[in-house]
Amino acid sequence: MLKRKDLLGLIDLTEEELGEILDVAADMKRHLRDGDKNLPYLKGKTATILFYENSTRTRTSFELAAKYLGATVINIAAGTSSVAKGETLVDTGKTLDAQLNDFLVMRHPMGGAPYLLAKVAKAGVLNAGDGMNEHPTQALLDMLTMKEHFGSLKGLEVAIVGDIKHSRVAKSNLFGLKTMGANVRIFAPETLIPKGFDKLGATICKSKEEALDGADVVMGLRIQLERQQAGNFPSLNEYAHFYGIEGKALKLAKPNAIVMHPGPVNRGVELTGKVIDHEKSRIEEQVFSGIAVRMACLKLLNDYREYTK
Ligand code: NCD
Repeated sequence: MLKRKDLLGLIDLTEEELGEILDVAADMKRHLRDGDKNLPYLKGKTATILFYENSTRTRTSFELAAKYLGATVINIAAGTSSVAKGETLVDTGKTLDAQLNDFLVMRHPMGGAPYLLAKVAKAGVLNAGDGMNEHPTQALLDMLTMKEHFGSLKGLEVAIVGDIKHSRVAKSNLFGLKTMGANVRIFAPETLIPKGFDKLGATICKSKEEALDGADVVMGLRIQLERQQAGNFPSLNEYAHFYGIEGKALKLAKPNAIVMHPGPVNRGVELTGKVIDHEKSRIEEQVFSGIAVRMACLKLLNDYREYTK
């Protein structure tokens, strides 16, 4: 049993814990595929979704996941809440506890914000992306998508190409994939690779060929223009030319390889339009996996809350 009040990052999740989440998520996905969206494990529970940053797929999929599980769901966009009036995160947490929330799903531009909320709130906190730190449910949905295609994550060669420096998705994937026995290759302009990333277990590649040759998974990551200080690379056109994934580069990967991207994609920058729509592309499958993974995380955290009540 996942013995946790909160899901904040993959950095300290064990192979068993990751395996359990992925197994439950695969089960949820089977139900969803059969058209069964009524799985009331969270009936009578309340979840508040608190987003201090823009989002399409993550916010809506958390909302759908909680609703398919039968929870009452409230959405708060930071601009419309008392946060805009200067309320601190700690006071927001206390207020949401007083309203008897069971779960708080939080996205925040500052790394560590959900950790602070988890400390002060009685509700279980799920990190939906904190600054440049982690995005655990995104990496879990990526891992579920890979596991369904390959059967296992052990020994997979996963090439991640793009803005690693600003990417919480890259970090969570590195932590989770390494724990599950996969190898993570990184390729990006040097200015977009955080110092010490190799010490975390990533293989840093010097060329697109080195990164993609024999890869099982080719994952593009968005150039995060909103977090970019000027000067990390000359221009988007040049980035696309040297680091973008096009059909020719894709041929270097294994014949059974898949292409992934967490979205949103800058079409023609990280991936060409052709690669996005390629038969190897699993981008839409990732979105579907996202609902199942978030259902699994909510169910498992709820099981533990019930167990410790
Ligand atoms: C990612 C995020 O917000 O970290 N998107 C997502 O959740 N699907 C990646 C990104 O913004 O590029």
